[in-house]
Amino acid sequence: MTVQVPYPASEYRPLSFQRPFHLRKGGSSMSDGNKAPSVSNLLSKYSTKEEFERLNWTGTFQEYLELARENPHVTRTAYQRLYDMIASWGSEEVTKLNKTYTRYKFFDDPIGNGKDAVFGLDDSLENLVNVLKSAALGFGTERRIILLHGPVGSAKSTVVRLLKKGLEAYSRTDEGALYTYEWRVDGTADEWQESPMREEPLKLIPESIRQSFIDDLFEGIDSNYPITTHGELNPACRHTYKLLLEDYGGDWTQILSHIRVKRLLLSEKDRVGIGTFQPKDEKNQDSTELTGDINYRKIAVYGSDSDPRAFNFDGEFNVANRGLIEFVEILKLDVAFLYDLLGATQEHKIKPKKFAQTDIDEVIIGHTNEPEFKRLQSNELMEAFRDRTVKIDIPYLTVLDNEINIYAKDYEKKGNKFIAPHTLEIAAMWAVLTRLEEPQSHQLSLMQKLKLYNGKSLPGFTSDNVRELKETATREGMEGISPRYIQDKISNAIVSHPKIPTVNPFMVMNELEEGLKHHSLIASEEERKRFQQLLSVVKEEYEDIIKNEVQKAISADEDSIARLCANYVDNVKAYTQREKVKNPYTGKEEEPDERLMRSIEEKIDIPESRKDDFRREIMNYIGALAIEGKQFKYWTNERLQKALELKLFEDQKDTIKLKNLISSVIDKDTQEKIDIVRARLIKNYGYDEISATDVLNYVASIYARGDIKS
Ligand SMILES: Nc1ncnc2c1ncn2[C@@H]1O[C@H](COP(=O)(O)OP(=O)(O)OP(=O)(O)O)[C@@H](O)[C@H]1O
Ligand SMILES: [Mg+2]
Repeated sequence: MTVQVPYPASEYRPLSFQRPFHLRKGGSSMSDGNKAPSVSNLLSKYSTKEEFERLNWTGTFQEYLELARENPHVTRTAYQRLYDMIASWGSEEVTKLNKTYTRYKFFDDPIGNGKDAVFGLDDSLENLVNVLKSAALGFGTERRIILLHGPVGSAKSTVVRLLKKGLEAYSRTDEGALYTYEWRVDGTADEWQESPMREEPLKLIPESIRQSFIDDLFEGIDSNYPITTHGELNPACRHTYKLLLEDYGGDWTQILSHIRVKRLLLSEKDRVGIGTFQPKDEKNQDSTELTGDINYRKIAVYGSDSDPRAFNFDGEFNVANRGLIEFVEILKLDVAFLYDLLGATQEHKIKPKKFAQTDIDEVIIGHTNEPEFKRLQSNELMEAFRDRTVKIDIPYLTVLDNEINIYAKDYEKKGNKFIAPHTLEIAAMWAVLTRLEEPQSHQLSLMQKLKLYNGKSLPGFTSDNVRELKETATREGMEGISPRYIQDKISNAIVSHPKIPTVNPFMVMNELEEGLKHHSLIASEEERKRFQQLLSVVKEEYEDIIKNEVQKAISADEDSIARLCANYVDNVKAYTQREKVKNPYTGKEEEPDERLMRSIEEKIDIPESRKDDFRREIMNYIGALAIEGKQFKYWTNERLQKALELKLFEDQKDTIKLKNLISSVIDKDTQEKIDIVRARLIKNYGYDEISATDVLNYVASIYARGDIKS
């Protein structure tokens, strides 16, 4: 079976935030010449007639049986359909810290072009999909409430929104098609009456014979799931059915002449197959919102309030039949609702006012924050509820790169402000730091822990160690600063300096700090202090990052490095072979330049006592290359390259007089050198003019403060 999806996955590309701004594509180009289609061609190309016909199929019951026999998947339950929908987008195995996960591409939001993409949460999402899968197979989780649990702003609503959108789109594909039926009881009337709960047409077959009918119908036909259709018709259809059955002397097949089957398109906006229930204050909410209400106008028509035709099956459970119902803040619900919820979950039945229990087929997902969940745990009355939930933790992210992705998605392409390099990274870094537990070992700083989690290697830490770190920090990701707070502050930083076309990390850090004073979710003064202190940790890290970049931009002159390298190697060669070096200017033979060699080696912490080993190592390396007929290039030896870059930086730092950059008088020569460095920052590191100048000035001020730790 080929999977038909509304937007081919191949056309969807995940966002990449690393691409420097100036490399990003602008709007559409008009370079196609004059190939614009005629307006009438355009109209017919975009005509929705065919699609409309495909999506609005109607047919007789018999035609439906034939259609179902060809595509048994039209008979799937809500859980089966939801699981298949997710799987239809494909998945891949990913290994992180020696553990393998299945990553479902659906959560990259291919339908919305990545707008609601969820980053990181691979293990949580795998859990969720596994629960849906076992529900699809009838292993029991279909009788549970799926409870997404996590701190505020951890993407719980985003995950549910994705599922809803996914179902809507799936129901419009051939693969995800589903059907319901309509009645026309009075032969002359033109109007077809839809099944108020949009039930599966196979439910029209009397329950007593339904399964054997289905078994006969689908005999020898392959299906991913056993085909069954549970439950009775809703009270209104049952009523009509009974009346007709009497008319036809008990022959149900004759009733089918009053039936038309039609395709069902799920749509939250149209209140078809997707429902949302949100707690409001108790006075304004009663259980009719969930299970439907009496239609007082129709009582006059039908004479009784217990005539099901005088009932509106428009409660959220009714509406969501065949699809999915979301309970926002489920644990803030009044207890009265929870009883309805329990029945709906355990028995797949709801109890509308004055009517017998009514069968439903829908996925029930709720979400909740931690405080409410804790309350639930200590409440004995809620035991029944607890017992019927599958809890899935949706924590904050603790991997920096994933967190950056959240903000890159939001801000990379918005407005005409230039976002300076590292701005989003710094904000994300702080957010992640607030969520991490202090490492037990004093050997490890919180920032180092963050880097380990982000996939960086540190001497003495294997992937297993890192996993252990993660596993022992059980509360990690359940506390700290939410992405929503960061999003708000980045937005503030963007709008609050209208005259400056660039947003830089300092502006964002200031906003983050300012906001802490009034942050309503910070529990204690102590916590506020800790968050503030983490801001200085982040600032320090930022200084390191830009010092490093400026340093690299200054020493990015490959010719100079190559010359320095040649000079060093000549000296080392002479030293190890106890020879002399020829001075290129005077032509005289001289002793190897010990000062030069040491000034390079010290940059990578080679002590005096180890210098002979290091020099021999370099010579052996060069010799081995020579045997293979290869020439030595400095960048093939990482340590040597670093040493050379640092040395060159030190030499040039003084010629450029970085320190003097902040003074107002700069000679022409220095200015030229600075311009070259600035140009390199722009070209190699994605800066714009303003942010490159800012960074140079800032690094200069660091050096002016006498901080010459490199
Ligand atoms: N892992 C993540 N991947 C992508 N976006 C995320 C992630 N975590 C949080 N966000 C973003 O953070 C914001 C808040 O997410 P959302 O509203 O889904 O959170 P929530 O868990 O429902 O919060 P609440 O508990 O307050 O209702 C959204 O903009 C969302 O895109
Ligand atoms: Mg939410």
